[in-house]
Amino acid sequence: MNSQRNSRTSLTKRIHTITVPLGERTYPIVIGEGVLRRAGDLFRKHAIGRTVVVMTDTTVARHHGAVLERSLRTAGHTVHTIALPSGEQQKSLAAAERIYTELLQRGIDRSATIVALGGGVIGDLAGFIAATYQRGLGFVQIPTTLLAQVDSSVGGKVGINHPLAKNMIGAFHQPRFVLIDPSVLRTLPKREMISGMGEVVKYGVILDARFFRFVERSLERAFAHDAAVLTAMIRTSCLLKAYVVATDEKEQHLRAILNFGHTIGHALEHAGRYSALKHGEAILYGMVAEARIALWQGMIDERQVDRLEQLVNRLPLPSLTPLRLRSSALLTTMMKDKKTLSGNIRMPLPGAIGSVQLPSVVERRFIEQAVQHLTVYGA
Ligand SMILES: NC(=O)c1ccc[n+]([C@@H]2O[C@H](COP(=O)([O-])OP(=O)(O)OC[C@H]3O[C@@H](n4cnc5c(N)ncnc54)[C@H](O)[C@@H]3O)[C@@H](O)[C@H]2O)c1
Repeated sequence: MNSQRNSRTSLTKRIHTITVPLGERTYPIVIGEGVLRRAGDLFRKHAIGRTVVVMTDTTVARHHGAVLERSLRTAGHTVHTIALPSGEQQKSLAAAERIYTELLQRGIDRSATIVALGGGVIGDLAGFIAATYQRGLGFVQIPTTLLAQVDSSVGGKVGINHPLAKNMIGAFHQPRFVLIDPSVLRTLPKREMISGMGEVVKYGVILDARFFRFVERSLERAFAHDAAVLTAMIRTSCLLKAYVVATDEKEQHLRAILNFGHTIGHALEHAGRYSALKHGEAILYGMVAEARIALWQGMIDERQVDRLEQLVNRLPLPSLTPLRLRSSALLTTMMKDKKTLSGNIRMPLPGAIGSVQLPSVVERRFIEQAVQHLTVYGA
């Protein structure tokens, strides 16, 4: 796929705008170093109403909250800030209820706009509040982790966890726009950068061989926070995700390709009780395992699988030893996966670097072999 389409770049200001074309819910993703400071201009341009509720976590608030608030207040907005503790536990019905209470107590009505300033946890939770409070409020995403900038802030999936399963309660609620400032990643811990890189690598594998080569060449510069490299990585990732979401907003067919690496990845996250591995780390392991399955099914040649594995090996990942992986336990988790139909485990698999096929049924013995393959990583 040609990732250069559907993108406008203003060279003078170095601001890139990508359109997610969804009919009347069409929205832009605006990407540029330093754009957070100019958020107020964008809010004005999109005629965002006066009252704005910034939902964030305390870590992000400490680093970047004041810059956003200043810009919004200067643009004439009344800003309410709700800062939660950071962590996945916040994606819960209990946290949502506390926020509904706070919104009611502050007299927030339907004219207000909810702004998510944070990683995927804040984006998912704030989006869920925006989708449900008083039957729906306007929503703006300002993602601050690499994972959120390249993945979770684009596409409109919002939601919270149920004690029995992750992301089980939610909605599709598209933002009015997404504002991405790569410079906020300078305060992000390296492990979170690696986690986000998992999704970046995934886009290359499933959709764009040229982009995969670019990631191979530029990995170290991205971790050194080279602004041009990071902006290019984020921009191409958003372009590719926007293309998929625009083709299949509600995940009826094409959007399922974004789940490459996620069937085994989610089972690994579950095995690590959602604390041993970050989401993107689990996806990196999941892609290694699932690419092997594609090899054993005769879909892809070994050289390409090795190439993916070599790239993954350049990213320091936690050992899998503490997870005490057993393929039977992983298979049980996979059977409960939303993607499993009538007891058949299905996953999208690559036919080459840059090209993936829609989900198909995978034999259990290949999954067992793939888990066995992960033993080189201490499984
Ligand atoms: N909606 C979707 O389509 C989608 C897709 C993928 C993942 N997700 C969800 O995203 C969540 C994971 O998101 P995440 O990986 O961004 O984790 P996260 O939101 O928990 O953020 C990770 C950590 O980084 C900190 N942080 C964030 N930005 C920072 C910054 N600029 N500087 C310093 N620290 C910063 C946060 O405080 C947090 O401690 C999961 O709940 C997952 O289910 C959603």
